[in-house]
Amino acid sequence: MTTSERVESAIADRRAIVNDAITEQLPIQRPERLYSASRYLLDAGGKRLRPTIFLLIAESISETASPADDYRAFPTLNGERIDVLSAAVSIEVIQSFTLIHDDIMDDDNLRRGVPAVHREYDLETAILAGDTLYSKAFEYMLDTGAPADKSVQALEELATTCTEICEGQALDVDFECRTDVTTEEYLEMIEYKTAVLYAAAAATPAILLGSDEETVDALHGYGLDIGRAFQIQDDLLDLTTPSEELGKRRGSDLIEGKRTVITLHARNQGLDVEDLVPENPSDAEIEAALEQLRATGSIDFARELAEELVESGKRRLDVLPENEPHDLLEEIAHYLVERAY
Ligand code: IPE
Ligand code: IPE
Ligand code: MG
Ligand code: MG
Ligand code: MG
Repeated sequence: MTTSERVESAIADRRAIVNDAITEQLPIQRPERLYSASRYLLDAGGKRLRPTIFLLIAESISETASPADDYRAFPTLNGERIDVLSAAVSIEVIQSFTLIHDDIMDDDNLRRGVPAVHREYDLETAILAGDTLYSKAFEYMLDTGAPADKSVQALEELATTCTEICEGQALDVDFECRTDVTTEEYLEMIEYKTAVLYAAAAATPAILLGSDEETVDALHGYGLDIGRAFQIQDDLLDLTTPSEELGKRRGSDLIEGKRTVITLHARNQGLDVEDLVPENPSDAEIEAALEQLRATGSIDFARELAEELVESGKRRLDVLPENEPHDLLEEIAHYLVERAY
């Protein structure tokens, strides 16, 4: 098996487990329209990268078989058994909540290859479905059976993360009206809107399993680094990848006037990035914009920045024992910036 096949199969194994857990934990109940809208995007697909990272960190810390036999009765460092799967689902449910509201904010119609929730249902239902998932995630984080002090700490991590995602999304929207955004400001914005959820996915298993503070902090740092690298790759894919492969609209960031590290770099090279594409661009027009961004070296600049963040993130994994899940977490860091969708 090549490295990327190994990573993809590790993700696929855990994705299947997480998907079953979602069906179990989030049944469609009354009011049916609300719950079917809440499940709709979760059922449409999604890579499940964050819960996979969560479970791999748990496996590495507890040195269990990988994947574990039973994530619902998972051994902590103190010899108790807790339900880590419920907490992993909590992270993925937050992910889906942010996507539903993000598509409303970004005026995007396509997500995970299907119409966005506010298109398939309606705006009211989409807002409520997002809110329902947001609060359900806190219930799931409370359902692990971990000691009270650990549960409180995990909830605190989740709450802070959600606040920061909102702050990041607010910056992302504000930046659309500004032409003087700096790379530092962009990096701060993506730390909040995206990387903090990776940080929560990485730090929460350590909290729940009873790791020391140094380990929790290092894993949090791993999540922040690879999460920023992940968002830079997301910004690149937005430009390069056909909608059918991406499951969301190609060129959406250019259409919406988003500031990304790519357009910021190009602007600094003297390119007029305000009108790179017309209002409703064809694929050929997006391709032409991409060529201009390549010519300014902005695509390469973004790739290099993402790779530096991956290297930095990998170094933070030194706090974990040497085992197979640890190796996989290093490989996943690379995968996040090499992935094609
Ligand atoms: C998309 O995340 C949202 C961003 C933070 C860029 P993913 O690319 O992980 O989306 P899914 O969950 O696989 O659909
Ligand atoms: C999304 O960033 C970040 C969150 C969902 C919090 P994007 O707006 O770039 O995500 P996509 O490209 O729509 O998935
Ligand atoms: Mg978006
Ligand atoms: Mg957005
Ligand atoms: Mg994007």
